Amino acid sequence: MERIVCLAIGYAFGLFQTGYIYGRLQHIDIRDFGSGNAGTTNALRTLGPKAGLITFLGDLFKTIFAVVAARMIFGESHPDMLPLLGFYAGFGAVLGHNYPFYLKFRGGKGIAATGGIILSFNWVLALLGFLTFVITVAKTRYVSLGSLIMIGGFLVEMIIMGQMGYLGRMSQPHLYELYTIGAVLTGLAFYKHRANISRLRAGTENKLSFSRKK
Ligand code: G3P
Repeated sequence: MERIVCLAIGYAFGLFQTGYIYGRLQHIDIRDFGSGNAGTTNALRTLGPKAGLITFLGDLFKTIFAVVAARMIFGESHPDMLPLLGFYAGFGAVLGHNYPFYLKFRGGKGIAATGGIILSFNWVLALLGFLTFVITVAKTRYVSLGSLIMIGGFLVEMIIMGQMGYLGRMSQPHLYELYTIGAVLTGLAFYKHRANISRLRAGTENKLSFSRKK
């Protein structure tokens, strides 16, 4: 039951669509421009660096707030499950971000929101993810590729660290549950990036650009 509650709390937080709201304040629907996505990269592409930064921070922090809320609610009753429940709340936030009911389920791709999960989960994994992302994007200028390598790397690194006992005192069943949600999260990111993957394969993917296309 607590897992469902955390997912629902996360979903509610995830509904805060920073890029969409920012775009609306500029009198546009950001999803009508660029890649059609409501996330950081498209906000940057369509409305410029300030919009990109605000969208990134808003989407990152809504997930962190969801994780914190879950930890506050279940801190006393389920102390042994807190990392897992926080992960459920973060996953819920990604679902709310990717599939907001009030925008006909057309949101973002969940990368900044996933960054919020990683950051609130483990700082070593967050640092590794950040470096993976920055190095990939700096070398290729493909944000989508950086996002996918970061999230795939996170799953592998999380499993390695979990099995080596570096994720705190978690029972083996809880660890396996964590890996499973991590795998679903990764699968979802790849699914949401399927058009980007096709473009990457065809060599036609958009490269990172700071110019406004509005
Ligand atoms: O965070 C989303 C990014 O990986 C790709 O965004 O707009 O180029 O599809 P976009």
